Amino acid sequence: MANIILGEKREEVKDGDNIRAACEELGVPFGCKKGVCGACKIIIEEGEDNLGPLTAKEEEMEDRDETHRLACQATIKSGTVTIKVETVDDEEDKEIDEHYLDEETSED
Ligand code: FES
Repeated sequence: MANIILGEKREEVKDGDNIRAACEELGVPFGCKKGVCGACKIIIEEGEDNLGPLTAKEEEMEDRDETHRLACQATIKSGTVTIKVETVDDEEDKEIDEHYLDEETSED
């Protein structure tokens, strides 16, 4: 069993599983859940090596670097990973997110 830690909270994840459900429990914000909007971007504070390899969607992240992952895409191999939530202060990012979510909910 692996663990995700955010602040004072900890969630267990089965080895090899996607970390999305645990991150939702921990309060990470989500949008598309498809690796597109970037709303679930997290900063890995400790245990990066315990995460699975980057997914194709993560490889496409604009500001991709060693410490940023997408919580809707990443898997955990085992052990413990400590994360921090990326705060979105950039208005442009918010507009992109809202645009995407509008498309997602549109039925016509
Ligand atoms: S929720 Fe949109 S990229 Fe993860």
